[in-house]
Amino acid sequence: MDLYETLTGRRSIRRYTEDPVSDEALLKVLEAARIAPSWENRQCWRFIIVRERSVKEKLAASLPERNPCRRAITAAPIVIVLCADPAASGQPDGKEYYLLDAGLAMQQLMLAAHAEGLGTCWVAWFKEAVAREACNVPAPYRVVALTPLGVPARRPSPRPRKALSEIVFAEEWDRPLP
Ligand SMILES: Cc1cc2nc3c(=O)[nH]c(=O)nc-3n(C[C@H](O)[C@H](O)[C@H](O)COP(=O)(O)O)c2cc1C
Repeated sequence: MDLYETLTGRRSIRRYTEDPVSDEALLKVLEAARIAPSWENRQCWRFIIVRERSVKEKLAASLPERNPCRRAITAAPIVIVLCADPAASGQPDGKEYYLLDAGLAMQQLMLAAHAEGLGTCWVAWFKEAVAREACNVPAPYRVVALTPLGVPARRPSPRPRKALSEIVFAEEWDRPLP
């Protein structure tokens, strides 16, 4: 799949079939995460691959009932738990780059998953303490996000985005791009 097709075709997938994910596809998406850029190439991220129903149920319990991805956590064949060590990344000017490092790796994983015909969905609205206990994540690692991984049961239409004119400036703040 062409890169631009991958970028425009990816969606947050919240409904999954019961079809399994092949080991080959799983390794490909993990490889896409592994090669992501990071602060001083420190690679502060860790990924936990969850397949056991009992662990998925504990993870699902970390999401509020109103989280639209809650059911997908138990429905998808795999859940990936994204963890990162804040001290293993940079904090220049008070900015915590572990979130960016981990986010970049996860986004690469998600794009690769889409290229493999698989769905994912960022999940960041969850109780970290509950997810931590579900997977025995030790301090100082933070549980940054989760994603289900599986075959999409339906493909949602694209969600709207702001126009470029709203988000891009030329030379200085608020000057429109010609
Ligand atoms: C940092 C982050 C956290 C998110 N957390 C959740 C979440 O907890 N539950 C959920 O259903 N979607 C979550 N999403 C998915 C967004 O709602 C989704 O990306 C957005 O609506 C655009 O839709 P699209 O991904 O299909 O383009 C999250 C996305 C990001 C980037």
